[in-house]
Amino acid sequence: MLISGSVFLITGGASGMGRAAAEVLLQEGAHLTILDLQRPLQDANFQFGHDRVLFLQVDVTSEKDVLNAMDATKRKFGKLNGVLNCAAVFSTAPIYDFKTLEPHSKQIFMKILDVNLCGTFNVIRLAIGLLAENEPDADGERGIIINTSSKAGVIGMTSSLAKELKSWGIRVLDIAPGVSNDDFVDASAANMLPRTEKPSDFGQLVKCIIANQMFNGTSVRLTAT
Ligand SMILES: NC(=O)c1ccc[n+]([C@@H]2O[C@H](COP(=O)([O-])OP(=O)(O)OC[C@H]3O[C@@H](n4cnc5c(N)ncnc54)[C@H](O)[C@@H]3O)[C@@H](O)[C@H]2O)c1
Repeated sequence: MLISGSVFLITGGASGMGRAAAEVLLQEGAHLTILDLQRPLQDANFQFGHDRVLFLQVDVTSEKDVLNAMDATKRKFGKLNGVLNCAAVFSTAPIYDFKTLEPHSKQIFMKILDVNLCGTFNVIRLAIGLLAENEPDADGERGIIINTSSKAGVIGMTSSLAKELKSWGIRVLDIAPGVSNDDFVDASAANMLPRTEKPSDFGQLVKCIIANQMFNGTSVRLTAT
C-alpha cells in the first residue's frame, strides 16, 4: 500500500510506539487520526494541529467514542486506509508477591484485557466498514490493520481476522515488540547487537509492513534478543 496520501488511524498515538509510528508515517506523506486518552506533547518532530493530523481524545473501549472518531476521520480526510492499534495499559506486578503474600490484582488484569484486547477488537470492528468502502488499489488492496497490544491475545485474533478479511483486500498483522526504552540505549549499548529496541525501530517496521503486500496474517517479532 502506498503510504503517501493514505489515511491511518493510530490508537495510543500520543506516546511510545504509536507516536513513533505516527512520526514515520507523517514523514512519508500520510494523513493521521490519532486516538488517545492523553494529549500528545508537541515538539519539533511532531506538530499536532498540522493539517494532516486529527487528534481526538478517545477511550478505545467506548463504542460511542470510536464511532465518533470514524465519522470525524471520514469528514476530515474522506476515507480510512489503515488502523494501527497501540493503545495500552501495563502492569509490572508479579502473579504472586512472595514478600507481601499478595496475589496479582484481578481488577488490574481485567483492566488490561479491557483496554489492550477488547479496545483493539472494538476499534477493528468499527473500522472495517470504512476500509471496505475503499476502491481496491492496483494490487487489489483496500486496507490494513496492525495490532500490537497484549501480544498473545492479538496473535490469535490476527490469523482468524486475516483469513476472514482476505477476500476484501484487507490485511491483518500484529507486531510483537521486545522491551523498548530509549533511556536504556546509551552510546555503548547502541554499538552492540542485540540492543534494546527503540520506538523508532517500531515506526520503521510499521512503514515496511504497510508498503509490502507480502506481509499478512502473521505476527512479526521485533526484537534482536
Ligand atoms: N514499551 C515496551 O517495552 C513494550 C514491550 C512489548 C509490547 N509493547 C506493546 O506496545 C504497545 C505500545 O506500548 P508503548 O510503549 O508505546 O506504551 P505507551 O504507554 O507509551 O503508550 C500507550 C498509549 O495508550 C494510551 N491509552 C491507554 N489507555 C487508553 C484508552 N483506553 N484509550 C485510548 N488510549 C489509551 C496511553 O495514553 C498511551 O499514550 C502496547 O500495546 C504494548 O503492549 C510495548
